[in-house]
Amino acid sequence: MCGIVAYVGPRDAVPILTEGLARLEYRGYDSAGLAVLGRAGDLRVRKAKVRVGELAAGLPARFKGAPGIGHTRWATHGEPSDLNAHPHIAGTIAVVHNGIIENADELRAELAADGVVLSSETDSEVLPHLIARSGEAELEDAVREALSRVVGTYGIAVVDARHPGVLVVARNGSPVVLGIGEKEMFAASDVAALVRYTRQVVHLDDGELATVRADGFRTSTLDRRATRKEPSLIEAEEAAYDAEGYTHFMRKEIHEQPAAVERALRGRLDLRFHTAHLGGLNLDPREAREIRRVKILGCGSAYYAGQVGAQLIEELARIPADAEPASEFRYRNPVVEADTLYVAVSQSGETYDTLAAVQELKRKGGRVLGVVNAVGSAIARECDGGVYLHAGPEIAVASTKAYTSTAVVFALLALHLGRIHDLSPADGRRIAEGLRALPAQIEEILKQEDRIAELAREYAAYRSMLFVGRVRGRPVAREGAQKLKEVSYVHAEAYPASELKHGPLALVSPELPAVAVVPDDELLDKNLSTIGEIRARRGRVLTVGHRETGDDAIVVPKNEPELDPILLSIPLQLLAYHAAVALGHDVDKPRNLAKSVTVE
Ligand code: F6R
Repeated sequence: MCGIVAYVGPRDAVPILTEGLARLEYRGYDSAGLAVLGRAGDLRVRKAKVRVGELAAGLPARFKGAPGIGHTRWATHGEPSDLNAHPHIAGTIAVVHNGIIENADELRAELAADGVVLSSETDSEVLPHLIARSGEAELEDAVREALSRVVGTYGIAVVDARHPGVLVVARNGSPVVLGIGEKEMFAASDVAALVRYTRQVVHLDDGELATVRADGFRTSTLDRRATRKEPSLIEAEEAAYDAEGYTHFMRKEIHEQPAAVERALRGRLDLRFHTAHLGGLNLDPREAREIRRVKILGCGSAYYAGQVGAQLIEELARIPADAEPASEFRYRNPVVEADTLYVAVSQSGETYDTLAAVQELKRKGGRVLGVVNAVGSAIARECDGGVYLHAGPEIAVASTKAYTSTAVVFALLALHLGRIHDLSPADGRRIAEGLRALPAQIEEILKQEDRIAELAREYAAYRSMLFVGRVRGRPVAREGAQKLKEVSYVHAEAYPASELKHGPLALVSPELPAVAVVPDDELLDKNLSTIGEIRARRGRVLTVGHRETGDDAIVVPKNEPELDPILLSIPLQLLAYHAAVALGHDVDKPRNLAKSVTVE
C-alpha cells in the first residue's frame, strides 16, 4: 500500500525510479511523484494525480539527477490530488512515506502554531517539516529526531539538497528493503522494484533506520544502537515480475497455478510414510502431538484460504480448527492458549492487521507459524516457524495463485499433523496421491477458459449474484464472490447453501443468478435440493462441480473430497477475470484497492 523507491549512485535516478514505481503500482495508483537532486545540488520535484507511466512521459528532458526518491500513492489521508501526491517538501528536504501517522493532527497543529504553512491534507507532510525543524547537523540524526515525535506506521525515504550523495530510509510497520549494487544503492517497499538492478537485498526491521550512500549503508535503531544486517538473495527471476505476453497479471497468475502448486509440493511429500515434511515448522512430533486446537488468521482471500485450511486440518488430523479474520482477532483481546497452534496466512507477509495479530499473540506467549509467500517479509520473520508458498511474485491486486498455494500448503500441514495424530497410512497415501494429481487437474480446468469466458460475458450483465456452497464448498463460494466483487464490481454475496432458506432465498428472482459450488461428495443430494429451490424461484443457476446440473455448468476433474475445494476455486477465478474484462475494468488495479495493506 503506497510504493516507495529510492536510488543513490552515479546514474541518473529518474529512469530507475519510474521503472521501479511502475513495478510497485499494485501497491497504489492514486498519484505518483519524484524528487531528485540536480547536478547543481538543487531539489527537483514532479508529482501529480496520474499513474506512473503518465508522470514519466510528461517529464522534461532536463529532469535528471541523483540521489532520488519516488512514490506511488494509495490515499489514506486526503483525496487523490496533485497537492496530496508525494514527495512532500520542506525547503531542501523531500520525503516519501508509506503508512499512517496517527498523531498527524496534533503535529500539524504544532507546526502551524510555529508558522509552518502546510500545503496538503496528508498526514505525511508533517515529516519533512519535522526534519527541517530539527537542529541536527546530520540528516540521519534529523530524521531520527523527527521520527521520535511520530506515532504510527511508516516506511520513508528522505533526500536533502544540503546532503548530496545521501539517502535516509526508515521503517516501522511498512516495509523497506535495501538493494545492494556495484557502487550504487537502491531502496524500495518491495523487491519487485529492485530485481532489475540487483539480487542482493537487506530487509530493514521495524524501528530501524539506514543511511545509504553509493558505496554502502549503515543501519541503526531509532535509539541509536548500530545493527548488523546480512544480505539475502531475491528468490524469483526478473521475468517473474513481468506480464510476459499476458494482457493482465491476473490472467498470467491464474495460468501459473499448475507450476506454483508443483513448487508448493516440491520435496515435501513423503510417499514412503504417506506424510508431508515441512522443514520450517520448528515443531517436533512430540510438540505436534500436544496440539489441541489450530487457529488460522489472515485477511481477505488469505482468510478464505485459511477456512479451507481449517477444514482440511479438522478432517485429516481431527484437531479442532477454525479461521478468523486477523483484523478482528487483534482487536478482541483473544484468549491465547498454550496448546493451540496459531497460523498466520499472508501472501505479502506485510499485511498490517495480520502482523499486528501475530505480535499480539507473541506478546501473550502464543506459538505462531506463518504460511507466507514473500520470503523475508515482516510476518515471516515475526513467526516462530512456518512454510513458504514459493508461488513466485503475485502482482495482480486480486490474489489467485497465492490463494491456491496456501490451500495446498494447508493440505500438506493437515497431512503432516494427521499422520502424527489420527490419519491412517491408507488415507495418508490417498491424500498424498491426490495432491500430486493437482497440477495436471488444474491444467485441465484452464483448458476450459474459452467456455468460462463465454459464461462470464453472459453473467456480467447481471447487477448482483449469489454464491452458495456447503461445508467444503463454503469457503470456495466466499472466495468466488470476493474475486467477482473485487475485479468486476458486480455485487456478489456468498452464503452457506444450508442458510439460504433462513433468509436470503427472499432475494432470488430472474434478476439474481446464483453460482452453486456442488462437489460430488456426501452432501451432493443436499446441494441438489438447494439448486432446485433456487430454480423453482426462477433464479438462474451456474454450477461448479463434477456433473452437469443447473442452467449452466462448469465441470472440473474429481480429486479426493477433502482436496476438491482447491480445484473448485479455479473456474471462479476465471469467471471473475473474464467478467471484469467484459465490463472493461482495469483488472490488475481494481478501483479503491491496493495489494499489501500495510495500514490498519
Ligand atoms: C483479494 C486479496 C486480498 C488479500 C488480503 C491479504 O484478492 O488479495 O483480500 O488476500 O489483503 O493480503 P496478504 O495475503 O498479502 O496478507
